[in-house]
Amino acid sequence: MTSFKEAMLSSAATRKSRVVLALDFSGQYEQRLDRAGRVLEATKHDIAAVKVNHHLLLPFGLRGLEGIIQACSQEGLPLIADLKINDIESTNLNTVESLLDFGFSAVIANPFVGLEEGLGKVIEMTHARGGGIILLVYMSHKGAGEGYGLRLEGGHPVYVAFAERAKEWGADGVIVSAKSAEKIAETRKIVGDGCLIFSPGIGAQGGDVKAKAGSGADFIIVGRSITEAADPRKALSELNASKLRS
Ligand code: XMP
Repeated sequence: MTSFKEAMLSSAATRKSRVVLALDFSGQYEQRLDRAGRVLEATKHDIAAVKVNHHLLLPFGLRGLEGIIQACSQEGLPLIADLKINDIESTNLNTVESLLDFGFSAVIANPFVGLEEGLGKVIEMTHARGGGIILLVYMSHKGAGEGYGLRLEGGHPVYVAFAERAKEWGADGVIVSAKSAEKIAETRKIVGDGCLIFSPGIGAQGGDVKAKAGSGADFIIVGRSITEAADPRKALSELNASKLRS
């Protein structure tokens, strides 16, 4: 059974891309699936993976996304659900089972909920089924410091504790804002090379790959700069030209 990490690295090598396409669409509901299908069709040979968020999951649900899921599976593109799961164990298990049953490869979760009766069994079950768990370490929006940057007793910031949890819990990946090369480097020191670093925050959220946003990460997560571009392939090719790791 191929692990999620292996699938990510193999997909990235095959398609020569470190971009995870965030397939997010706002506006008229009737048009969202068609728009998503068109952008996926135009970019599928030049991205490493696809990430789906509430923009599609809420209005259409897992059954409604079967076309997108099938298209990713046919292409061998890992598919990540960005639900930032953060509930009690029984609910988390139910959520992740549904995602895996319908063909998702990995899910993003919030380490804040803890291991015992939180994410412990979810991680075990997901790994037993060949899926991946990606934990939030430091988010990309401006207010991220208000939570992830809080200092614990002894001066240790929350995001450092989350990176340590990711390592201890055997997470397959972590999310660290592309806008902070220092936090990416700090996280790398803690999680090592065995845990993939995914960095959102490029383009619409201000991070500029030309100014090295996302450097040190394994993958960048990009949505609107591609999905809302007049020419998504062209927008993607500039992102693919950026070198993330030396
Ligand atoms: P844009 O359009 O800003 O979209 O390129 C980024 C996508 O990624 C999500 N996002 C995050 N997801 N941790 C996450 O798990 C983060 O720190 C983070 N920042 C952005 C965002 O919701 C959108 O789907």
